[in-house]
Amino acid sequence: MPIQLPSPSQKGDTPLEEAIARRRSIRDFTPQPISQLQLSQILWAAQGITDTLGRYRAVPSAGSTYPLEIFVVCGRDGVEEIDAGIYHYNIASHSLSRHCDGDVRLALARAARDEEGIYGAPVDIVICALYERTLGRYGSRGERYVHIEVGHTGQNIYLQATALGLATFAIGAFDDELVREVLRLDKRYKPLYIMPVGKPA
Ligand SMILES: Cc1cc2nc3c(=O)[nH]c(=O)nc-3n(C[C@H](O)[C@H](O)[C@H](O)COP(=O)(O)O)c2cc1C
Repeated sequence: MPIQLPSPSQKGDTPLEEAIARRRSIRDFTPQPISQLQLSQILWAAQGITDTLGRYRAVPSAGSTYPLEIFVVCGRDGVEEIDAGIYHYNIASHSLSRHCDGDVRLALARAARDEEGIYGAPVDIVICALYERTLGRYGSRGERYVHIEVGHTGQNIYLQATALGLATFAIGAFDDELVREVLRLDKRYKPLYIMPVGKPA
């Protein structure tokens, strides 16, 4: 059964300008879990649906081809009342499907040059691309569109985390094949960003 996430809020206490001004890459986290509502808000900002017909999302996408898929690596006690494991974010239903059991943060960190923030944070967001969705429409130029889109998504995660008083940072330095192995994903999925999320230390 998918885990239905609480509805994200579209009103917050932090003005956008303040979030932009305060946004920083923060690499030290407390081991405290984040709440389901905080995770919901982060995932909504990353790729959530923002129109009543379900056609459009929080981030723009070339020709609405939406090539990105998001996986959540949840540590033990990483998110309140969610078991450790790897989850896929179901965008249309704003829910999580369990992809694999277990706390794989250490293995994921090893795939990323032993980046401490990956196992120090309670949760890691892994943004992957299915290039064929965009290249199928735009040919080889679609590749640049996919890369631009992950930037939009990363920035939204940064700003939402800042607005919630959470810490995050973008990681591009990792071994694609090892990340895919840890996440048990097939070759079609290309990991583009890992973003640890948690409370700042
Ligand atoms: C494409 C990209 C890749 C990045 N990869 C890493 C990374 O692998 N490890 C890391 O610690 N920070 C990474 N960063 C974060 C940058 O180091 C950080 O944004 C920069 O130092 C500026 O600091 P600020 O984000 O606090 O403004 C990356 C940022 C971008 C945009």
